[in-house]
Amino acid sequence: MKRVKVKELSAFIDQQVKVCGWVRTKRKSKKVVFVHLNDGSCLANLQIVIGFNMVTEETFQAITTGACIAVTGQVVVSQGKGQQFELLAKEIDIIGLADPEEYPLQPKKHSYEFLREIGHLRIRTNTFGAVFRVRHAMSYAIHHYFNKKGFFHIHSPIITGSDAEGAGEMFRVTTLDPKSPPLIEGEVDYKKDFFGKETNLTVSGQLEAELAAMGLAQVYTFGPTFRAENSNTTRHLAEFWMMEPEVAFYDLNDNMDLAEDLLKYLVGYGLEHCQEDIAFLSERDLAHQQTLPADKRNELSLIERLEFVIDNTFERITYTQAFEILRNSKPNKKKKFEYQISEWGADLQSEHERFLVEKHFNKPVIVYNYPKDIKAFYMRANDDGKTVAAMDILFPGIGEIVGGSQREERFDNLLQRMEELNIPQEEMSWYLDTRKFGTAPHSGFGLGFERWVQFVTGMANIRDVIPFPRTPGNAMF
Ligand code: 4AD
Ligand code: MG
Repeated sequence: MKRVKVKELSAFIDQQVKVCGWVRTKRKSKKVVFVHLNDGSCLANLQIVIGFNMVTEETFQAITTGACIAVTGQVVVSQGKGQQFELLAKEIDIIGLADPEEYPLQPKKHSYEFLREIGHLRIRTNTFGAVFRVRHAMSYAIHHYFNKKGFFHIHSPIITGSDAEGAGEMFRVTTLDPKSPPLIEGEVDYKKDFFGKETNLTVSGQLEAELAAMGLAQVYTFGPTFRAENSNTTRHLAEFWMMEPEVAFYDLNDNMDLAEDLLKYLVGYGLEHCQEDIAFLSERDLAHQQTLPADKRNELSLIERLEFVIDNTFERITYTQAFEILRNSKPNKKKKFEYQISEWGADLQSEHERFLVEKHFNKPVIVYNYPKDIKAFYMRANDDGKTVAAMDILFPGIGEIVGGSQREERFDNLLQRMEELNIPQEEMSWYLDTRKFGTAPHSGFGLGFERWVQFVTGMANIRDVIPFPRTPGNAMF
């Protein structure tokens, strides 16, 4: 018999089916044993009712939390509370044992810290099942959205020879022996390396997306990106996924419109297609909020926060306006910001971003036209000579979730900016070529996918929204 998924069982009432999954709990009553089984297809467990005389003592003992079993039986409308239907077991096969003395996931509350240490098993919990189903739905919805709008998905390379963001926080890719690399004049001779040059893991697919946009007009990349920044925060990973659209003939306003429309679509998709998981995560989040000090607590529930994004127009302010607001504000009556912004040109810290979103405007905020000195070389210079056509989208609880810009499409301006920043032209000739041949205004942005999944699931730590997180000092599994 073929397996039927728990999610689809309501279509099989009064029929014989086979289900396979992992035991969550086992409970004995007077006449029967109740087993709760989860098969990953949905949050809900299936209640399996086993008559006492139906299984041998040996089988009964083998049904422990974590064990994998297959059950054949009849789907019936449940008489008990808590589930619409249940399975009356006729036959039980033990597929995989889980020794209760050793299996670390017992039916009780475990801390996220503990679960991170058993990342290979945490996927079997309600919370992580829900998070990764929502993550999948968001990834699918991104492709759906762009496909619907006539964008083309470009697979940008993971190994590159360029530093797209110019921040220099890259992981080197090499096949040279670190103990005895070939040397030339005392330095490592990368000409002898695998690619005949220095290479690294990509920090962004943007530059390649720009090349593609100058032929396909509307493209997006969606892949893993890598940053060797030593940031141990709840919002930084060394390996994270980024989705980056790039659109020819778009200016900064079009770019902001696209980003806002996408994010609203994604929230709507989640609310529609992940109802059960999001409702569960919302309760989880509520319980978590209660453990926080009053001033850190979110007044809105997760579902309210999501609806809030759909219902509100994102506030759009320039960096200069943001600077004025921040210079004249205190995060609360007594406290100052940790970094008080006093000079125009300083970068916004996450405490500032969150203040703007959570306290000042109380809605998502797009800050645009940033000082050029704190932004990447490829952003389009504004006429004031001081700012570039950049934009960051700031979200409650997260801070920056999107970073983007209109790109500098004017050859001379780009070349000059690269010279100012000592970016070697020879290595970037392919990039400059797009400005030399048929250049066009274009814009794009990058959505940090894990930060987005954090927002949609309400998970406080970015390590809990990617199956196998990579952070400084940690690359398990
Ligand atoms: O602002 P960033 O650095 O922008 C770029 O990489 C551009 N090339 C994007 C573009 O215009 N096509 O990164 C974009 C987003 C950030 O807003 C943030 O959400 C996320 O990527 N991000 C990180 N997420 C997790 N861990 C990190 N270390 C991240 N660094 C950036
Ligand atoms: Mg950024």
